Amino acid sequence: MADNGLSPAVPPRVTLHDDPLRAPVLPFDSGVLPWPAHGDIAFLRARDGWPLRQFPLERMRCEQGFKPLADGLRQAGLDVQPQLEGEAEASLVLVLPPRQRDEAQALLARAVELAAPGARVVAAVANDEGAKSREKDLQQLAGLAGTLTKFHCRVFWTPPLPGAQDAALLARWQQADAPRPILDGRFSSRPGVFAWDRIDPASALLAAHLPGDLAGRGADLGAGWGYLTAEVLDRCPGVTALDLYEAEARALELARGNLAAHAARVALFFHWHDVTGGLTEGGYDFIVSNPPFHAHDRGDRPELGQRFIEVAAQSLRRGGRLLLVANRHLPYEATLAATFATQRVLAEGGGFKVIEAVKNDAVKGRGR
Ligand SMILES: C[S@@+](CC[C@H](N)C(=O)[O-])C[C@H]1O[C@@H](n2cnc3c(N)ncnc32)[C@H](O)[C@@H]1O
Repeated sequence: MADNGLSPAVPPRVTLHDDPLRAPVLPFDSGVLPWPAHGDIAFLRARDGWPLRQFPLERMRCEQGFKPLADGLRQAGLDVQPQLEGEAEASLVLVLPPRQRDEAQALLARAVELAAPGARVVAAVANDEGAKSREKDLQQLAGLAGTLTKFHCRVFWTPPLPGAQDAALLARWQQADAPRPILDGRFSSRPGVFAWDRIDPASALLAAHLPGDLAGRGADLGAGWGYLTAEVLDRCPGVTALDLYEAEARALELARGNLAAHAARVALFFHWHDVTGGLTEGGYDFIVSNPPFHAHDRGDRPELGQRFIEVAAQSLRRGGRLLLVANRHLPYEATLAATFATQRVLAEGGGFKVIEAVKNDAVKGRGR
C-alpha cells in the first residue's frame, strides 16, 4: 500500500461493502487515469474507507455535511468541511452524487465549477441509485471521456475540462437544490434533506399529540429543517429554551432560518451533531424526537433509534419526559423499558406510534 500521508495509528473506519467508494478509485487503480501529481483533490460527499487509503491523501479536501461521516474523515486525519469554498482550483474532483436528482445535479455543477482548467471530474453512483441518469447529466454538462461498471456501480469521468460546455445549464443546475419556500411559505426547505417539501406524517402525529404543558429547557434530537421544534414552540408556551441536534448541516441551516421568528421569545441553540455519540448538554426537562432508522446507505437500522432513546434518557433530568414517534413495527419498547421508568402510547395512526416516556424521579431512580 502506498504511503497515504495519514497516521498509521488511525485505522480506517472500514466499510467492507462500500461499493460506491470502491468505484471512483477504480480508473486510477487500473491505470486508466493518472492520479494527479500536484494540486488539491476535491472529494464531494466524501466518506472514509479502505479503497481511498491506497492513494496519497494529504492533498485531499473533503466535503461532507453529514456529521457521522465527517467525523470519520476527520478521525482519519483528512481535511473535511461541510461545504468546500472556492472554485476552479482542484486538480481532480471526485464526487459521489446522491440519489435525489436536484441535489445530484447541483452537486455535479459544483464539481465542474471546482475543477481547475485541465482537471477532470470523476463521479461514481450505485446502479440502483440512478447511475445512468447521473452519467447522462455529467455528459450533458461537461462531456464524458470514459465509463467503467463494477461493484454494482458506474464510474464515469469527463475529459480534462476547459470549464462547463453549457454555462446556462451550469447556472441552472447550481440553483437546482437552492432553498425555497414550501407549505405556502410557512417554511423554507431544499431538495435532499429529510421530507424536504412536506411534513413527515410521523412528525405530524407527534405534533398533534404534544402535551401543551411541556415547559422549560428542551431538545429535539434529529431536528431536520425544524418542523417539530416549530410545533413545540407554537403549542407549548412554557418552553423557554430549546437545543436542536441534527447531523445534516444543510437541514440545520434551514432550521435556523425557519425558527428565526421564535428566537426573540425562546433561546434556541443549533448543534451540528451526531446524536449517537451523546449530547453536549444535559438536564433537559423534555426531549422530542422522530429518530432516524436508516443509515446513509439506506439500510434499516433500528439500533439508531434505540441509541437515540438511550441518549435521551442520559440527557433528561429526573422526571423529564421523552416524546417520541416511530413506525409502529420498530422495536423500541424494550430499550424504553430499560432506560425509562414509565412509557405509554399517547396515539397510534397511519402506521406510527407516539410514546411518552418518563425518566425515573429522584426516589425511584436511584442507581439510574
Ligand atoms: C425522521 S427525520 C426527522 C426530522 C424532523 N425532526 C422532522 O420532524 O421532520 C430524522 C432526522 O435525524 C437526522 N439524523 C440522522 N442521523 C443522525 C445522527 N446520527 N445524529 C443526529 N441527527 C441524525 C436526519 O438527518 C433527519 O433530519
